Amino acid sequence: MPVKINENYLLLKSSYIFAQINQKVNDFQEKNPDAEIIRMGIGDVTRPLPKAVIEEFHKAVDEMGSSKTFMGYGPEQGYSFLIKDIIKNDFIPRGIQISEDEVFISDGAKCDTGNIQEIFGLENLVAVTDPVYPVYVETNVMAGRTGSMGEDGRYEKLAYLPCTAENDFVPQLPEEPVDLIYLCFPNNPTGTTLNKDQLAKWVNYARENKSIILFDAAYESYIREDDIPHSIYEIEGAKEVAIEFHSFSKNAGFTGTRCAYTVVPKELIAYDSEGNPQPINPLWNRRQTTKFNGVSYPIQKAAAAVYTPEGQKEIGESIDYYMQNAGIIRESLIEMGLKVYGGVNSPYIWIKTPEGISSWGFFDLLLKEANVVGTPGVGFGPSGEGYFRITAFNTLKNTKEAMERISKLSI
Ligand code: MLT
Repeated sequence: MPVKINENYLLLKSSYIFAQINQKVNDFQEKNPDAEIIRMGIGDVTRPLPKAVIEEFHKAVDEMGSSKTFMGYGPEQGYSFLIKDIIKNDFIPRGIQISEDEVFISDGAKCDTGNIQEIFGLENLVAVTDPVYPVYVETNVMAGRTGSMGEDGRYEKLAYLPCTAENDFVPQLPEEPVDLIYLCFPNNPTGTTLNKDQLAKWVNYARENKSIILFDAAYESYIREDDIPHSIYEIEGAKEVAIEFHSFSKNAGFTGTRCAYTVVPKELIAYDSEGNPQPINPLWNRRQTTKFNGVSYPIQKAAAAVYTPEGQKEIGESIDYYMQNAGIIRESLIEMGLKVYGGVNSPYIWIKTPEGISSWGFFDLLLKEANVVGTPGVGFGPSGEGYFRITAFNTLKNTKEAMERISKLSI
């Protein structure tokens, strides 16, 4: 018998949205070699790693070069020095008690939000906001949990929670019970947030329905307003129903360096087919110990430097820098008469495309006429049609230049 493929992969769209954009931009650049393209599509940072981080990184690399200080395999769950810093800085000040064995260091929130579904049964009904970070959907497609995509761009067995201007980008509780719920706030792609009461509704829903929330907090460091939770565990009872994902990518520039962490509380349970409660934390630990050998020592040392006073100061400056860009983008686009969302507690600005122009139409227009790259909203899900995302992660100079170019278009 010939080797068979995992046919679920055939149910995926032909390419990942950012790969598709890259391809289009590269084709355009090839045909227009003089075009100075400004990339505001994928949420990749442009500021270098903080000095405090680099210094620790260098020191740790040197340690690896000496037989006295060399480190081989580390704990799959991450080194205790980093886990302690995370708890002390990201949770205790918010009144959240987390124990060391509830934190798992990894090489990215993309990987963890993608891999987490493996420890849950295939029969679970998964809910995603729409638009949504495509990783949540596509990893469930690969696993065989979604069925195929209909003409409307929706997978038949996923529950979609539309988030559009009509509902202020606040997902409504589902009408039919759902099992796993992916929430990302501040949201990628819309840049919008939920306040404590709005998030508490989801926590209560999960507690009542024995569901689990997979909460992606990768953008929490961009929160500027009070009453926006930085962690779902700020909501009472959330440790019983939520896994939380964090990343050093967007706050400390680790997109190319790779370090993140996931909190899997020990209170969290799901059920086996006989209805017996099973704790989730040991399952994730089991998965990680088999499939993952930990993040490298120098990178974990570098990540720990994020929590030093110098590291905090430097990352604060970078976040302020990107948020200044976000402000410039918002103001410029509003001045052009566009409807603009996000960008206040988030590095993402979500734009309603002008009347009669689709998401991809707007993408083509900006690429061809202004040489500016953004992300078509529809790439994040069918409810993203008619929207467009721009990131604040480019340099200040490029951000200003991009806005100047866009303002000259007749839209
Ligand atoms: C995005 O642009 O949505 C993000 O960069 C994707 C990611 O963090 O993987």
